[in-house]
Amino acid sequence: MVEAIRFTGDAVELIDQRLLPAQERWIRCETAALTADAIRGMVVRGAPAIGITAAYGYALAARQGADVEEARRLLLASRPTATNLRWALERLDRVPPERRVEEAKALHREDVAVNKAMGRHGAALLEDAHDLYSHCNTGALATGGWGTSLGVIRSAAESGRRVHVWVGETRPYLQGARLTAWELQQDGIPCTLVTDNAAAFLMGAGKVDAVLVGCDRVAANGDTANKIGTLALAVLAARWEIPFYVCMPTSTLDRDCLDGTSIPIEERDPDEVRGFGDQRWAADIPAYNPAFDVTPAELVTAWVTEFGVWRSPFPPANAAFIADGGTTR
Ligand code: MRU
Repeated sequence: MVEAIRFTGDAVELIDQRLLPAQERWIRCETAALTADAIRGMVVRGAPAIGITAAYGYALAARQGADVEEARRLLLASRPTATNLRWALERLDRVPPERRVEEAKALHREDVAVNKAMGRHGAALLEDAHDLYSHCNTGALATGGWGTSLGVIRSAAESGRRVHVWVGETRPYLQGARLTAWELQQDGIPCTLVTDNAAAFLMGAGKVDAVLVGCDRVAANGDTANKIGTLALAVLAARWEIPFYVCMPTSTLDRDCLDGTSIPIEERDPDEVRGFGDQRWAADIPAYNPAFDVTPAELVTAWVTEFGVWRSPFPPANAAFIADGGTTR
């Protein structure tokens, strides 16, 4: 399986996701500032992956005797929506500077274990589901390895379940078309690429048994921020009574956000809407590019966590766990 992040002792190395699948090139970040640039520039993306990357960048600053406060500020500001970034830095803050590299490595390892646990719980939900709809990229590239909702699909396929994935291309940054399709193809999991616009048609025609998405921040009431287009899929799934599952490592839960209205939504360069890479297909007109949207909790059938499946309504019966800080340790 593809790897997105590796730590070499004096640098964090990232596969350049901007170039995939055409080219597999690695970028080396030797300082926290370069790590923050890579996160902001989408070399690495996906909520758990940017948390892990930021942790390594922060640990490097401590090891190098650099200005740790400045490193923290730069990393925290690199992308605003995914809460995993803050979660990872706060976790490192709880250990002395000389132990931060080890802590970042532990966080990386644990993310894979969390994903495998979500995979087990989520795969059990898919008993009767064959045709699954996926949005954005939630796989090995978006995490420390395996993936969240793509991890659930991987686990289902690994256990011998016959699955087929509709891969939504995910305009404008094409994480589905470029990254998810590539990961699924490498694993030999049957999949078909569709435009985001095809989702209603597919659901209306009975061709989708379940929708699986990841998340970047889940508020205390279950409102779920994820890649732009997720809300549209949730509305459609509700219309056709199709299960809508959010795969949520509890590191993505933000108890300080009471509901979705307080989740910051990143706005990206309008040029991403007017074209892609060097290509421009729109005239030089105003364009608006919110990178995420918020799905109200009432549209989510269940949240798949590393601790089990939390069915709607949110929070689940083990709310004491959430009150305890939502920590995975
Ligand atoms: O802008 P991106 O590519 O970082 O957005 C990623 C997503 O929205 C994912 O669905 C989310 O981070 C969960 S990844 C396991």
